[in-house]
Amino acid sequence: MHGPNLNLLGLREPEIYGSTTLVKIDEILKSDAQKLQVSVTCLQSNHEGVLVDKIHSAREQQHQGIVINAGAYTHTSVAIRDAISAVTVPTVEVHLSNIYTREEFRHHSYIAPVVIGQISGFGVDSYRLGLKALVNYLS
Ligand code: DQA
Repeated sequence: MHGPNLNLLGLREPEIYGSTTLVKIDEILKSDAQKLQVSVTCLQSNHEGVLVDKIHSAREQQHQGIVINAGAYTHTSVAIRDAISAVTVPTVEVHLSNIYTREEFRHHSYIAPVVIGQISGFGVDSYRLGLKALVNYLS
């Protein structure tokens, strides 16, 4: 699950976020998922409420886990944190950049206390490691 502005990956501050597009990241994750013998559904939204609704539907749609890069909502959204906490679907938080070496306002994550773990700073590999860790956790 990708949060706000991540649809602009490839164009957006490539020196921070790299040059890989979101479409490519989703392709990589789907190919990793095949090797891990799981299936992955990808979605991106710039809207907090849409992300909250999607987290709620994770259980109904029988998703066993969530890998989320909540983008800037990481640092602002009690609503996304509460949604993750409410559904009790194991969730991994990922960030392309290392949020702890950047501006101070990025050092705090509202969602960190309700996820099983956080991976930050490895570019596209943060997502790949997040997926692998989630699958290992679930099995
Ligand atoms: C981000 C880091 C956030 O601070 C930022 O607002 C983003 C992307 C990352 O992947 O490094 O949009 O989550």
